[in-house]
Amino acid sequence: MTPSQAFFTVHRDLHREGPGLADDVHWALKVAETGDDVRILDAACGPGADTLVLAEARTIARIDAIDITPHFVAEARARTASFGARVTAWEGDYTLLEHRYDLIWCAGAVYMKGMIPVLDAWRDHLTPDGAIAFSEPVFVTAPPSPAAEAFWDGEGDICDLNNLTETLARADWNILDHRLLIGDPWEAYYTPMEARLEKLQSEAPEPPLQKAIDDATREVALWKAAPDQIAYALFVVRPA
Ligand SMILES: C[S@@+](CC[C@H](N)C(=O)[O-])C[C@H]1O[C@@H](n2cnc3c(N)ncnc32)[C@H](O)[C@@H]1O
Repeated sequence: MTPSQAFFTVHRDLHREGPGLADDVHWALKVAETGDDVRILDAACGPGADTLVLAEARTIARIDAIDITPHFVAEARARTASFGARVTAWEGDYTLLEHRYDLIWCAGAVYMKGMIPVLDAWRDHLTPDGAIAFSEPVFVTAPPSPAAEAFWDGEGDICDLNNLTETLARADWNILDHRLLIGDPWEAYYTPMEARLEKLQSEAPEPPLQKAIDDATREVALWKAAPDQIAYALFVVRPA
């Protein structure tokens, strides 16, 4: 088993691949004033938890979903099959789009390629009233607590809310609203993961899988050490 296979063995069959709740999707749809007869993209959809919520919330909308990881795309497709051709999931890079969208939703994945480069790649793929809703790691205090620094270590330059809002304004993005994702949205991600880790650990894993289990276990423990310090900021933005 390769390290990549071990990682995806840990991250298989989870409801979602990052923090978030259905309520966050509903909130963003409301803030962006996204209607029903619209086209929405779930960018970096993972296994499709939010794709499902979007399809249920906007009953005649066309929902596209893209992810770079083949088996997540397969899971998203399976989960949304009942919606028929109205919901389409495919494998690809979320910065290489063909269509224009009334809403681009992206949970926990913009920072992987950098917030402003990714938003700018989407600028020309919005309808005139289109908006982007995305969640971004954020330090809730300045300076950050040691626990927050330990949690985000290795994940790039994490900023506080002021830095993020200034960066967005400088790059010509209007913030329609924002909210912090703390506590419950993380629990929704880590509780099923903990159950999966326990199950995998009970099956006498070989070394590559043991390392992936240890890494994920450490991540959950770092979150549990300071759940009030670990946050995403969920922004809804429009080009200025
Ligand atoms: C933290 S997970 C979030 C997944 C999903 N949004 C959720 O909340 O369950 C990040 C996702 O980004 C995907 N990803 C990473 N880089 C990508 C890229 N360049 N294009 C498309 N998807 C990407 C990964 O495969 C993974 O599914």
